[in-house]
Parts: sequence; structure tokens; C-alpha cells
Amino acid sequence: MKGLQNLLKNNRKWASEISKEDPGFFPRLSKQRPEYLWIGCSDSRIPANQLAGLLPGEMFVHRNVANVVVHSDLNCLSVLQYAVEVLQVKHIIVCGHYGCMGVRVALDGGKLGLIDNWLRHIQDVHHHHISSFTGLKKAQQWDMLCELNVLEQAINVARTTIVQDAWKKKRELIVHAWIYDIKDGLLKDLGVSFNKDDDIDKSYRKAVELVVA
Ligand code: CO
Repeated sequence: MKGLQNLLKNNRKWASEISKEDPGFFPRLSKQRPEYLWIGCSDSRIPANQLAGLLPGEMFVHRNVANVVVHSDLNCLSVLQYAVEVLQVKHIIVCGHYGCMGVRVALDGGKLGLIDNWLRHIQDVHHHHISSFTGLKKAQQWDMLCELNVLEQAINVARTTIVQDAWKKKRELIVHAWIYDIKDGLLKDLGVSFNKDDDIDKSYRKAVELVVA
């Protein structure tokens, strides 16, 4: 506990300020009713709720290094299933960010240890679109791989049995692909949102064309 007393002190201050301002705040949180599931990077600079102007209780969140959605990742799939089937969220936002070090390490073929295996998924995205990277400066390649990675992970979400089943039941559930810029704090929609009536492969290809153009 030594050295973390300031965090606990901050917490008590935060809780008491909120209760003073809105005495019903914590009682209301006994039940969460989020409309959104956020799948984002673990990066400490990306506070999901805060940057979308949402309060506790308004967004269900899953984060991992470089916002990767792997079809066999039970952790991510469990979050997804709970969000879609129990909480009945209406929107799933896959949000990457420029300057993502996970993406950079993947791009450079890094050697950081175990995490390299996780980042292999992003190297696969790079290899899949390799011809689009020819002739670009490293910084441009990095930005482009950050964007392509979001699109890839968003379509991975759309292809899960969980989302496919929800769409079969005619549920209104939309998968969005966004990217956040640490330099100005702004979110950008990458121009694709997968929904139940969509040809997701066609939408994905159109969004990729915009990114690599
Ligand atoms: Co990142």
C-alpha cells in the first residue's frame, strides 16, 4: 500500500464530490445499462469513457494491447457475449489510436518477448495489405497500419458467432471502427459501420480503399 496513499485519497475526494453534487449517482449505478461496448487499446492515454464524454455506467469496456480481436480469445469473446446478450448494447465501437506502440512494434518486427506473439496478429494485417505500404515513409506506414488494424478488428467482431447470432435475430446492433488521435484528443470515424443488413465484406473493402488511397 505504501506509495499509493495519494490514489486512495483522490478516490475518497472523487466519491464524496460526486455524492455531494448528485446524491443519486452511486445508488443508480447498482444497475448498469450501457448502450455501448468499447474495444480499445490498453494505452494509458486513452480513457474510453472520458474521451467520449460518458459517465460510469454508460459504456462497457474491453481493452488489450493494440485493440486486437482474436476469434479464439475467450476474454474478449466473453466481454462481447455479455455485452451483446446480457446488457443488450446497441453499438460496439472498436477504437484504435495513432501512435500505438503495439502497432509500431508489429510494423518494425519487434522483439519484446511474449507480446510479440500477440502482435503477430497485427503483422498479419500488415502482410495482408503489404503492397499498399510500398513507397510510404515510416510515419505514414505507422498511421496506415493503425487504421487498417481497426478495420480488421472491427470486421473480426462482426464475424463472431455472437454478432452474427444477434443479427439473425434482427437485433439492432452496429459495429463501428474509430481511431483516436492522441495529438489533438479527437476521435475519427473510419467510415464503416457494420449492421444486420450490411454486406460486411463489401463495406470492409470500401473502408480499406479509403485508408490506402
Ligand atoms: Co495502443
